[in-house]
This record gives sequence, C-alpha cells and structure tokens, in this order.
Amino acid sequence: MTHAPHRIVVTRRIAEPALALLREVGQVDLPQPDRGLTEAELHEVVAGADALVSTLQDRIDTRVVEAAGPGLRVIATVAVGYDNIDVDAVTGRDVLVTNTPGVLTDATADLTLGLLLAVTRRIGEGERLVREQRPWEFSLDFMLGAGLQGRTFGVVGLGQIGRAAARRAKAFGMEIAYTGRRRAAEEVEAELGARFLPMTELLGSADVVSLHCPLTPQTRHLIDADALAAMKPGAFLLNTTRGAVGDEGALAGALSDGVIAGAGLDVFEEEPHVHPGLLELDNVVLTPHLGSATVETRTEMALLAARNVAAVLTGEPALTPVRTKVAS
Ligand code: DGY
Repeated sequence: MTHAPHRIVVTRRIAEPALALLREVGQVDLPQPDRGLTEAELHEVVAGADALVSTLQDRIDTRVVEAAGPGLRVIATVAVGYDNIDVDAVTGRDVLVTNTPGVLTDATADLTLGLLLAVTRRIGEGERLVREQRPWEFSLDFMLGAGLQGRTFGVVGLGQIGRAAARRAKAFGMEIAYTGRRRAAEEVEAELGARFLPMTELLGSADVVSLHCPLTPQTRHLIDADALAAMKPGAFLLNTTRGAVGDEGALAGALSDGVIAGAGLDVFEEEPHVHPGLLELDNVVLTPHLGSATVETRTEMALLAARNVAAVLTGEPALTPVRTKVAS
C-alpha cells in the first residue's frame, strides 16, 4: 500500500534551498508566496497538513491544530521568537513546535550595534538632513553625538543575542552590565567582563539599555513609563527583540520630554504600525524589523526550519524544538 506524500504548508515565501529540502520529504503548498496568509486562509489551507512552516506574523493556537486535523505533527516557525505561538496548547495536542535559534544571532547583534551607532552618532538625522538638501556646513559644534568608549552597555536578557551584542559593544570600548532572570555562567561573565545587576540598578546606571529578552507575559511592557523614568537622563534604549517588551506610547513621551536621550527601535508593538509620536522625533532611529534580514541568515533560518520538518516527518528528533513534546 502506498502512502500519500506528506503535506507541508508554508505560510510565506522562504528561501529556495529550504523549499527544495521540503520537497524532498513531501508535497509543499505555498498558497500566497507574495503576501502570506490571513488567519482565515491559514485555517483553510492547513487542513490535512502534516507540517506547517510559519513565521512570526502567523497566530498559531489550537484553532490551527484543529483546522489541520489529526495528521499535523510539527509547526516550524522561521524565527527564534515564538510569542505568536501558544506553545503549551499546541504541544498539549501532541504537535511539536520548533524555532530557529543560533543562526540569526550575529545578524541581530550586528543590527543592534547599527542602531546604537545610528542613534548615538545621529546618523539617521544627518542622513535626512543631507538627503533633504537642508543647509549645513562643517563646524566644530555641528551635530555632536555621544561617544561610547567607557560607557556602560546594559543588556536585558543575556541569551545568545544579548551576549553577541555585548561582545560587539565591548569591542567598541564599552563596559558591560546585564540583568535577567538568572546569572550567566562564570565564563560568560569573565569573557565579557560583565556585571550582573538587578533591573532597577541596571536602568539607573547603564548609558545604553539594550533589550534582548523574549516577549512573555512577564516581559510585556517591561520598559514602561516607570522604567524609562528610572533610566539615566542621557541614556539610550535599543530594542531588537519584540516591540511589546517596551511601551511605545510611554517611550514616545519619554523621548520627546528628554527623559532619555534617544532610542533605536527595530521592532514595534503592532507591526507595521508605529506610534505616530515616534515618527515625529529626531532622537529615535526606526528600522522595519530587520534584525535577521541578511540573505545568508534568512537562508539559514529557513533551512533550519525545513530540517526540523524533515526530521520530524522522517521519524527523527527535531533539531531545535522549543519544548520537548508533551506526550499524548
Ligand atoms: C525572530 O527570529 O524572532 C526575529 O524577530 C525575526 O528574525
């Protein structure tokens, strides 16, 4: 008796080598390559799927599992963050969730430092000035920014990306401090010369606060108006994790009132919407969720997701499961 080929639904276009790999293990269905799927479309197209390759725009909960039916075995998100997935509920239905840690660490850390340089050295502001052909001339006090050397780079969440960003900040001559749920291993602290501080002390002493923790119920709006008020007046905030770790409205207010000096934001609470207050400010650099957006990294992310799918569908353990499967 021959079995029907595995059906693999892919919600948005992913790198071709990953699609090729998926085609080796099943029949790939990519219904809307150019815009992705709406929630209703996802529920419709997932019916009968054995595997789903999704992205951070897809809301994945038990409705997706129910719409798929009993054959669904794995949901592979092409992202390291998985706050869009109700992991407990999905794994409770015996469907494995995988993500793509590691392969995007360097790209995201690079962008973090890009934002740091852009906001402290006023690169966005200067670029706008030149492009708009506003009058300017070199002078010794023209568009002065803030130097980094000897300043403290405060990491919230010293995971892989936080560590990679800290390594880069250290190379720029910065001191490293960090906070998080737990202390890092001794060798990590030693490599970075990193000091562990409670959150309030980190906020009060860091010249740059860089957010690298995942978005969870505990970290939602972690950087609210009170946290911003607790930061040093000349400090900068960087966010390359998830917009909702900060409170965009409070941040717009704090930036416009000079509570902090500036911010570099790659992520927003309701993407692609950006709080209008932020759009008016010169002391914030805004990029459209580009942390992992290099050709190499996006290819590696898609390949890792595809390898996870291939492993599960061929009875092998997943490479990067978010959580060990809950037994049914
Ligand atoms: C992630 O992977 O979570 C990023 O936000 C997108 O690459």
